[in-house]
Amino acid sequence: MQAEPSRVAIVTGAGNGLGKAYAIALARSGVRVVVNDLGGEDGDAARSPAEAVVDEIERFGGEAYAAICSVTDEAGVAAMVDETINRWGRIEILINNAGILRSRGFARTDIADFKMLIDVNLIGAAICSHAVWEQMRAQGHGRILMTTSEGALYPTPGAAGYAAAKLGLVGLMNSLSAEGAKYDIRVNSIAPAAATRMTADLLAPADFARLTHESVVAAALFLVGEDAPRGTVLAAGAGRFERAYISHTRGVRLPDDEFEPACVAARFDAISDREDDAVPLAAYSVSRADD
Ligand code: NAI
Repeated sequence: MQAEPSRVAIVTGAGNGLGKAYAIALARSGVRVVVNDLGGEDGDAARSPAEAVVDEIERFGGEAYAAICSVTDEAGVAAMVDETINRWGRIEILINNAGILRSRGFARTDIADFKMLIDVNLIGAAICSHAVWEQMRAQGHGRILMTTSEGALYPTPGAAGYAAAKLGLVGLMNSLSAEGAKYDIRVNSIAPAAATRMTADLLAPADFARLTHESVVAAALFLVGEDAPRGTVLAAGAGRFERAYISHTRGVRLPDDEFEPACVAARFDAISDREDDAVPLAAYSVSRADD
């Protein structure tokens, strides 16, 4: 990989799992990395997970520092961004990776849990993106990565709050991607599949062994690289790379006197026909069923 000596990245939730893998890979490629995570779970641990990742990066000669705060803590995130600019003067990359999952049927989900999932997965990413936005606009350069999930893109039972938050991130990406274009701020999303402590209880052992981090890391680093695309959702895992699109069917135009539920029902197969599917470049741009 080519060295990128002057770039600066913030990776949230980088004390473990994929965030740790991104932080290490970025540092190996010469990027200076802010390793964000919560404090240690184990009060006796001498070093928090984020500090342990910084130690690992420094051992191979990389540059990193640990920023211990929740992505939901606006003041903590603002302090992290200020400290990064004071140390290194720029922020090129933000990887919104911090996330939590609770798997539970909707009937047994209490709204406090639902809100917590929205808070960490969605609002946390919005807080971090907002905190770096002015800096990236002023630089005329930025790369932001959201972490969505196939568990949100496609029907998954027991994931209401998680799915709502993770698909919310795709909406956030779409809007920021459109707003950021003139400042060369490119915003994308990754839908990973990887063996981590988050998926340890969900996956069969054979799948867990297959889902190594490398392909996810390659996809993520492409999405925050110089040649990053804009507004894409890239699924990666177990060596596979696939793009996910939200598309519109061609649809039908009904005459005014057929604006009735029964008429919509009668044409529902034609409305649903995917033959001329299109991916709209902007909202409301596919009201095109003129036939
Ligand atoms: P992980 O549980 O190993 O790592 C998540 C990290 O986020 C942990 O270090 C945790 O301490 C940190 N974190 C949690 N809440 C935080 C907060 N409020 N502020 C700062 N840090 C916080 O999980 P994994 O698998 O590495 O997940 C990374 C991201 O990828 C998450 O957003 C997850 O939802 C997403 N994801 C993972 C998939 C997988 O197959 N592993 C599948 C789909 C999405």
